[in-house]
Amino acid sequence: MISKTSAISLHETGQTVDPRLFGSFVEHLGRCVYTGIFEDGHPTADSSGFRQDVAALVRELAPTVLRYPGGNFVSTYQWEDGVGPVEKRPVRLDAAWRTTEPNTVGTNEFITWCRAVGCEPMLAINLGSRGLREALEYWEYCNHPGGTALSDLRKSHGYPEPHNVRLWCLGNEMDGPWQMGHKTAEEYGRLACEVARALKQCDPTLELVLAGSCSADLPTYPEWDRVVLEHTYEFVDHISLHIYVNDEGLDLPSYLTVGQKMEQQIRTIVAVCDYVKALKRGKKDIGLAYDEWNVWHWKYLQPAGFQPWSHAPAQVEQTYTMADTVIFGSLLIILIRNARYVRIANLAQLVNVIAPIMTCPGGSAWRQLTFYPFQHASRWGRGEVVDCRIKGTLCQTTAFGEVNEVDAVGVRSAGENALTVFAINRSMDEPSALDLPPGYRIVEHITLSDPDPSAANTADQPERVVPRAATQSGVLPALSWNVLHLRND
Ligand code: AHR
Repeated sequence: MISKTSAISLHETGQTVDPRLFGSFVEHLGRCVYTGIFEDGHPTADSSGFRQDVAALVRELAPTVLRYPGGNFVSTYQWEDGVGPVEKRPVRLDAAWRTTEPNTVGTNEFITWCRAVGCEPMLAINLGSRGLREALEYWEYCNHPGGTALSDLRKSHGYPEPHNVRLWCLGNEMDGPWQMGHKTAEEYGRLACEVARALKQCDPTLELVLAGSCSADLPTYPEWDRVVLEHTYEFVDHISLHIYVNDEGLDLPSYLTVGQKMEQQIRTIVAVCDYVKALKRGKKDIGLAYDEWNVWHWKYLQPAGFQPWSHAPAQVEQTYTMADTVIFGSLLIILIRNARYVRIANLAQLVNVIAPIMTCPGGSAWRQLTFYPFQHASRWGRGEVVDCRIKGTLCQTTAFGEVNEVDAVGVRSAGENALTVFAINRSMDEPSALDLPPGYRIVEHITLSDPDPSAANTADQPERVVPRAATQSGVLPALSWNVLHLRND
């Protein structure tokens, strides 16, 4: 007997989801690149050293865009170190993560692999330790067809065709005091403006992402966003937001509804963008680019204290539990619901580092629980957003007040009377029966759930929890992520 019911009403928005909402992120951090996507000598490695077991999982996950090469790493990165003959590339120190970087994988290898797994590259420019000149040179090396020093250098490295990278991030987390080359909003705003103006002069069709506030918890939020946008409004297309949610300072009901922080952050940054647009008498809307988002418990950040410098250590490797995955699903629902504003989003990160795909060096690769909601959203979240308003049980939370226990969003594929609804049930112990609007029937109900909130997929138990057909179609199990394919015919 199911005692809880969630009545859904559907509201067409006419808003199309930008496929780039389902992007991810590859940083030279920990084992994301080395022993993650790349491991020369691994039994599945191709002739370039990229693991084909990992590539197959990436294709299955279906991210659309991959941000590269950082992250904090980018803020001292010299792209020139990672091109040309591998044996001549220098080993450098990466101060951000206290690692050594051999530069075996660089821009050309990454972009080739990125396109091979079906993704569009999104390159971040170092605006921490570098500036205008290096940014222009990087663009020229990557995108100019030929006949100039740097485009011909690329050709001589074995890449005759330009990479044609459309998306460029103007630095990373420049408001964070931990960032190499951390700047004030005025300093960064001026530099970003200089670089954006020059890049747009070279190619007005590029899409540029300004580094907005990387955390709503920093004291500079959201004034940083106003200042940097005022400097650059004419020349940029998107402003970045980052969010990592966790249970820090939250009781369990509040943690399960922590996605409220993302909703609030979107409202705030949209307001800032609207303000600057009005101030500038502007015509264009600035898009939001969540170019880092995830659930991240800080205990996985790094062991305390200074570690010896090492190459590709296991840093920031988090096992995602069922409870984390429901929260992860709630973030995906919020991103889709806000597709009018959020045009790009990058799950941070892709492999090993707070990631949906994990690997053992020399061994297996497996899917964490968060793999599945992301895969479902990327596969079926293409089309027009349908708002789902829910009448059902409310969670009482100390941090966010009353929040619906069930949350959902719909996506209608163009030209079809088919609707996919993504839904979560945050209740720890009770299922909830969906009450659909008249005329709708469920064709398929897939669910990811486990009665144990700490259940997880690991190297030893890689398929402990997998999606399955719901036992009772239309009933969301306790603590679950769900995909419902509906028809109204
Ligand atoms: O994704 C991990 C790190 O989180 C990134 O390097 C940085 O941009 C953020 O602080």
